Amino acid sequence: MDITLFAGSIETWKGDALVACIPESKDQLPPLLQQIDSLSGGRLRNLQQAGELTGQSLDMVLLHHVPGLVANRLLLVGAGKPEKFGLPELRKVAAAALRHLKSKGVRTIAFLLPPDIPIADAAQAVTEGALLGDYEADKYKTDKNDQKKVAAFTVAGLDGDQQAEVEAAVRRGRVIAEAQNFTRDLVNEPSNALTPRILAQRALEMAQQFGLEAEILDEKRIAELGMGAFLAVARGSDEPPRFIILRYSPRELAASAPVFGLVGKGITFDSGGISIKPAEGMEKMKYDMAGGATMLGVMRAITQLNLPFRVMAFVPAAENLMSGRAQKPGDIQTSLSGKTIEVLNTDAEGRLVLADALTYAKRLGCTCLIDAATLTGAIVVALGNLNAGIFASDAVLLERFLASAQAAGEKMWSMPLDEEYAELMKSHIADLKNISGQRGGGAITAAMFLKAFAEETPWLHLDIAGTAWLDDPKPWSARGASGIGVRTLIHFLTHYPVGQAPPDGPTPASVPRGVKS
Ligand code: BES
Ligand code: ZN
Ligand code: ZN
Repeated sequence: MDITLFAGSIETWKGDALVACIPESKDQLPPLLQQIDSLSGGRLRNLQQAGELTGQSLDMVLLHHVPGLVANRLLLVGAGKPEKFGLPELRKVAAAALRHLKSKGVRTIAFLLPPDIPIADAAQAVTEGALLGDYEADKYKTDKNDQKKVAAFTVAGLDGDQQAEVEAAVRRGRVIAEAQNFTRDLVNEPSNALTPRILAQRALEMAQQFGLEAEILDEKRIAELGMGAFLAVARGSDEPPRFIILRYSPRELAASAPVFGLVGKGITFDSGGISIKPAEGMEKMKYDMAGGATMLGVMRAITQLNLPFRVMAFVPAAENLMSGRAQKPGDIQTSLSGKTIEVLNTDAEGRLVLADALTYAKRLGCTCLIDAATLTGAIVVALGNLNAGIFASDAVLLERFLASAQAAGEKMWSMPLDEEYAELMKSHIADLKNISGQRGGGAITAAMFLKAFAEETPWLHLDIAGTAWLDDPKPWSARGASGIGVRTLIHFLTHYPVGQAPPDGPTPASVPRGVKS
């Protein structure tokens, strides 16, 4: 889809559909809509008075051949309450408008930027919305409905002086949305088309395309290094594991910058292993590599955004299957860190592969660790499918991350990490066990297990089990992979204050709670 700018007078734009946001308020229409209203002889006011133009969030009114407009159609999209309208809502409006118009066969769209948001931020959000809204998981459909494809999306409502600023914002928006869609493509792949080896190959190709350094460790190297926890999970499958490492190094390194280690769970299929999952819903476990795909998407974006510090991604990729070689409940594994783990449930495999990846990231010099994983069903019990769970050992890191989540329009909620939970993960026979002996708090005890491997290094963990997959389509999104986490991580990294040392040492569990609007 082409994205262009239009700095002319909006009545003169020629194309299939012009889109404008309409606030939920009884007051006057915004100035540009007032102009359209008077040109059209009061069409908009009449609709408002008839109660058909409510402005309620994502309410759509589509008008044809509005007098005074060259455009064939005018789509008025509800923006909701003006005091709640910001970038996340604008991104959603753009995505929903595009999806609505696409379903009607519209091919060219102009989106009128709303007046109350700084122009560059608005242009970036609208670009992201359009590209994310346009995404479809149709790779395996032989009938792709080609006549319903938007050819061009135009950002309108700017003047000539703003052109350069808006162009840069559109470029940024494109980099971010394409990274998120890259992640979604990987997550939507079925496990027969995305084995650990294929995931590694896809990461390598992306790295070559975007100038990242890449290293793929095979089974032999993984064993030589001593990643006993990761290898134990991979053993049950005939498909060999891969450990993916991507490195971004800046042209100019800022003084006293942290080295970020982005660790993502890369289980390309999770059957549960010997502790097998029920058949119902098992097909969804192809998305158990969403955390890994998130980190690959983030790397794809940041290499195009000029960061002044080093970032590395680590994705331990394996299948969790059962076979005569598979690990069994009661087995004890020695992790790369040297810590021993009693495996009481082979379905709690994510924490095993992440344990070794966190240790390896530290060995390679990472001073700040962030992991993303579809780690627990318990996070779905706690937060449903709306918020991702955040766990952090460092209050400053957490605060910055929550601010980025809010700015990026991704819902995340901070969870506790009291030291007392660590007791529940101690084994009688080994250093740790991989599941807690108690009912309840499963997302927290899983996080505490990971924390034992992050040790003193500042660390943040994202449990995206409930948010990485949409069972039903939304007005602004296709069903399937959501790409959650990509935008927040990109925002966090691109806004990280350089020249400042990384947050040092863990702080007590009493970290601030999630900030909600
Ligand atoms: N991949 C699952 C977690 C998951 C659940 C992801 C639902 C997406 C949706 C993970 O490996 C797992 O199976 N966890 C177990 C842990 C349990 C055995 C302690 C779980 O959550 O049931
Ligand atoms: Zn599992
Ligand atoms: Zn899993």
